[in-house]
Amino acid sequence: MKLLITGGAGFIGSHVVRRFVLNYPQYLIYNLDNLTYAGNLENIRDIEDAANYKFIKGDIADEAFIRNLFQENQFDAIIHLAAESHVDRSITNPLEFVKTNVLGTANLLNASRMLWRDGNDENNKHRFYHISTDEVYGSLGSTGHFTETTPYDPRSPYSASKASSDHLVRAYYHTFKLPVVISNCSNNYGAYQFPEKLIPLMIHNIKNNKPLPVYGKGENVRDWLWVNDHAAAIDTIFHKGVIGETYNIGGNNEWKNIDLVMYLCRLMDQKLNREPGTSAKLITFVKDRAGHDLRYAIDSSKLKRELNWEPSITFETGLELTVDWYLNNQEWLDEVTSGNYLKYYQNQYMNR
Ligand code: NAD
Ligand code: DAU
Repeated sequence: MKLLITGGAGFIGSHVVRRFVLNYPQYLIYNLDNLTYAGNLENIRDIEDAANYKFIKGDIADEAFIRNLFQENQFDAIIHLAAESHVDRSITNPLEFVKTNVLGTANLLNASRMLWRDGNDENNKHRFYHISTDEVYGSLGSTGHFTETTPYDPRSPYSASKASSDHLVRAYYHTFKLPVVISNCSNNYGAYQFPEKLIPLMIHNIKNNKPLPVYGKGENVRDWLWVNDHAAAIDTIFHKGVIGETYNIGGNNEWKNIDLVMYLCRLMDQKLNREPGTSAKLITFVKDRAGHDLRYAIDSSKLKRELNWEPSITFETGLELTVDWYLNNQEWLDEVTSGNYLKYYQNQYMNR
């Protein structure tokens, strides 16, 4: 199996690449990533010399590059994670999101279709697995959950670009019989998450006694899942998911932002031997995000019922592991927050 994973130098992608390289030595894993600000080869340093692993730097939005790459390497299957992923950045630069998330996905779909159109798939290996988000379903009120049949209602440029990519994936299934599968997951947290996202940003700022910017009144609700459990779900769906189907993935773990930040403050006070209540004094309510979705909550019962997946650990355990990881990996955090890692990788991969 020649398996292409896109976005494998990013947060979730790095966990997926590591899992597949270590658990499936019989597969050849190709990690295609353009090393944007969010891509960092330090995230997968531990497996870079594995015999079944190869890194490719490249842009999924570059049609000719993608077409040639597929012709040269004859991939059997794809797990597609590469994307612009931060909602706040999509508000300041929407077109970058359209380019990568919509055009980039279309290029991958088209190249797969060209490669697999002879229909010769005796071992039933071909699979285009698209990783998407619960944000495509829009925003919930105080009750209810997103199911796989909830109508799409994206409300940020990020979620609209992901919804567009989901529609394209389904269109290639219906029109060209491309063997696709999609999953839509809730908010992830864990090691190697870029510290622009809520949890690592708060950990970093608490550690450094910097203000903790809570948008609006902090009443928005997110449903948090440990990234390793998302990677396990992706493994399960890749191997057992039914072609043409969609699976929701979530932690059944809703938190109001302000409650989550308060919880983190208490945990960090303990870890840093601070007086209880010290870190909470850093909380600062700031201007709300434009169009801020109120609540996300995923119903992942289909995945449990049909493929027997469920989260392996509680949020409290996962959050403590995550805090410990950031406190023990100060060098990684310093390189990322200072921007040093960018200069290094741009030099290393320049002119390739
Ligand atoms: P991330 O921003 O940490 O990583 C994205 C990766 O994609 C980076 O390594 C980046 O270099 C790469 N990339 C970006 N543009 C590229 C391009 N044009 N060509 C090639 N590579 C490019 O993102 P993440 O949080 O790990 O999310 C991964 C996927 O999972 C995304 O598709 C996202 O929509 C989805 N998702 C994320 C979450 C979450 O909570 N983070 C939840 C549900 C779904
Ligand atoms: O639901 C899945 C999505 O979760 C993924 O598709 C996205 O890629 C991922 O970034 C995430 O989106 P969110 O916008 O929910 O995540 P973020 O960490 O940016 O924000 C989480 C919540 O915290 C949200 O309600 C906004 C709020 N927030 C965020 C930041 C960065 C703050 O209050 N202050 C902050 O500084």
